[in-house]
Amino acid sequence: MTTTVIPTEVAIVGAGPSGLLLAHLLAARGVASVVVEARSEEYVGSRIRAGILEHSTVDLLRRAGLGDRIAEVGDEHRGIYLQWPGERHHIDFQEHVGRSVWVYGQTEVQKDLVAAAHARGQEIHYEAADVAVHDVTSDRPAVTFTGADGTSYRLEARVLVGCDGSFGPSRAAVPDDVRQTWERVYPYSWLGVLADVAPSTDELIYAWHPDGFAMHSMRSASVSRLYLQVPNGTDVDTWSDDRIWDALATRLGHGENGWSLEPGPITEKSVLPMRSFVQTPMRHGNLFLAGDAAHIVPPTGAKGLNLAVADVGVLAPALAELVRGGDSRLADAYSDTALRRVWRCTHFSWWMTTMLHTAGDPFDAQLQLSQLRWVASSAAGAAGLAENYAGLDIGS
Ligand code: APR
Ligand code: PHB
Repeated sequence: MTTTVIPTEVAIVGAGPSGLLLAHLLAARGVASVVVEARSEEYVGSRIRAGILEHSTVDLLRRAGLGDRIAEVGDEHRGIYLQWPGERHHIDFQEHVGRSVWVYGQTEVQKDLVAAAHARGQEIHYEAADVAVHDVTSDRPAVTFTGADGTSYRLEARVLVGCDGSFGPSRAAVPDDVRQTWERVYPYSWLGVLADVAPSTDELIYAWHPDGFAMHSMRSASVSRLYLQVPNGTDVDTWSDDRIWDALATRLGHGENGWSLEPGPITEKSVLPMRSFVQTPMRHGNLFLAGDAAHIVPPTGAKGLNLAVADVGVLAPALAELVRGGDSRLADAYSDTALRRVWRCTHFSWWMTTMLHTAGDPFDAQLQLSQLRWVASSAAGAAGLAENYAGLDIGS
């Protein structure tokens, strides 16, 4: 069988937010790239993920010319509510760190990236099968795959970037004696629902409750996104819509202090397991890893997409220098630079997760409540949460 060879500067595996944003940022620097994606454009564009953009993420997207729809349909939030039975406290990020966050779904970010890719004529091979990376420590690493039309392809590049999420082949292309992994699996999951109902809150509510954590988020003025802590292995079919709304009402404090939760038609429900995972280093030879390919965070605190954006924000200028045959120092520093933020966000999302989810130990529950009271009542406590939630500068 003949193989079609495609030469390029940067070969990117994965067309999620990491892969497409990297291709976009490279194109802005005049660096050519080709993207290979296992799924269809529609499939990648319809996955439901978290919806909070950090201050630095919005800044980067704006500077990259991707900010128009965020300004049009995104919703700027100056903080979050933290609550436990009988008490709700607003943590005002603007007051504490002068930064805000934006409610703008990952699905929307993906749409903007796909539109920009179409506009500049980005080469993307969707529905690629048998994707494999080769010769990653050589000067001419390659990605091979079978295209949607059955043709066998070989991308030959100066560097490869694995943006292929937690199930892609790139992570495993780093040899076992080089890579190190760290993992924490949490003893609970999230049941997430999308509902066609106006949010019952102006900003997100994170609620500690003896029955388990609950959260009220949103996608727009008419669509709410809600979550409930459930045991691992929960079958989504055991949660009827009524059971979901009852549990949300209890855990979110319906009827307390004059607040009520408005139920509505549920359009989607799914169970999400929660884990923290980091693989280091984020570079091996001429293979770089970015986004979920290198790290996974539990969703509490919504860091996944923001970390992916920060990775490629650091990586794009580094690769531009490298492929131009110029300074390799940024590329050499990429793994260490990116990992500083990865570990900060790994800690923050672990901290938010373990502060808010109940795991059955009464002593732990008292410590959680004490910590929540401290965060809500101390300027130092609130500022720590605000700084991490609204996000640190990219590359800092
Ligand atoms: N070949 C090509 N592409 C692959 C392969 C493969 N063998 N395996 C996986 N992929 C693709 C997936 O289909 C997906 O489109 O890689 C892409 C990875 O995208 P994401 O999982 O969205 O990861 P990333 O782009 O790093 O974005 C991180 O996504 O999971 C969330 O919370 C996370 O919001 C964060 C963001
Ligand atoms: C969401 O809107 O999906 C979301 C928001 C905040 C989180 C997690 C998920 O911490």
